[in-house]
Amino acid sequence: MSVDGRTVVITGASSGIGAEAAKRLARRGATVCLLARRADELDAVCSEIVAAGGRARAYPVDLTDADATEVVVAQLLDEHPVIDVLVNNAARSIRRPITESVDRMHDYERTISINYLAAVRLTLGLLPRFLEQGHGHVVVSTSMSTQIPIPLFSAYLASKSALESFARSLSAELGGHGITTTTVHFPMVRTEMSEATDIYAAMPMMSPYKAAGWIVRAVDARPTRVTSLTGAAGELGMATLPGVVTSVTRPLFKRMDRTLARRSRRG
Ligand SMILES: NC(=O)c1ccc[n+]([C@@H]2O[C@H](COP(=O)([O-])OP(=O)(O)OC[C@H]3O[C@@H](n4cnc5c(N)ncnc54)[C@H](OP(=O)(O)O)[C@@H]3O)[C@@H](O)[C@H]2O)c1
Repeated sequence: MSVDGRTVVITGASSGIGAEAAKRLARRGATVCLLARRADELDAVCSEIVAAGGRARAYPVDLTDADATEVVVAQLLDEHPVIDVLVNNAARSIRRPITESVDRMHDYERTISINYLAAVRLTLGLLPRFLEQGHGHVVVSTSMSTQIPIPLFSAYLASKSALESFARSLSAELGGHGITTTTVHFPMVRTEMSEATDIYAAMPMMSPYKAAGWIVRAVDARPTRVTSLTGAAGELGMATLPGVVTSVTRPLFKRMDRTLARRSRRG
């Protein structure tokens, strides 16, 4: 399965990696269905694709709203006789120490609600079509930080780990029915999400264009996983010596935060 001629539903397409991925997939000949809340931003991405000769359609929706998602799923199924790929990319991130989260159960609820439950809901909505047509590829956008233990992102990373686990179950259970999955472990990428943390301005990061290339690879070649070497090494370390890896990375992350804070104070 290549990209040309495929119909790809991509969530979180109003900004960052999702918007770039939609443009790159459309340039390779895919019809892209763009989902996110901000209609104006979605329309801007859509217009850019169409002006360049591509095929795109915007579906503004809050994916944490089950009823609204049901309406969009019905629309997608009605308007596209074949849906080849679903890219579950919409997300929110929260950076907060667990000690400052004791009265903030809602942080865990709101990350799980978009990063995990919304992705599961949309996947289940499209699954009967995937099974009927005998194929369907589900891509999930997740983080290198589920491969290596890092502090301060407990709500975000737990929801991403749940999503990865769901993707693994999907291919284990339905791989024989043509359902495949790719888990994409992004490192830090310069987008609205990472820019929300001031000190990250001083951190070297991947461009959204390059990160979008990882989504294109996931759609095109359908590998089980797209990862950095660092992430793969982290997984190997966690599978063999989890205690050692955790105690080595803990002071490293503290030092990195202090260095970034110093650099960003200097401007
Ligand atoms: N940036 C990084 O450093 C980094 C690192 C690792 C993994 N990732 C992952 O990469 C993916 C893309 O993130 P990004 O960096 O491109 O961030 P971004 O620019 O903030 O994109 C997040 C997208 O999710 C959409 N979204 C959020 N809540 C939504 C909701 N309730 N309903 C529908 N759409 C919703 C946003 O659109 P609206 O606001 O218009 O709804 C936006 O299009 C995410 O899964 C993220 O976890 C990013």
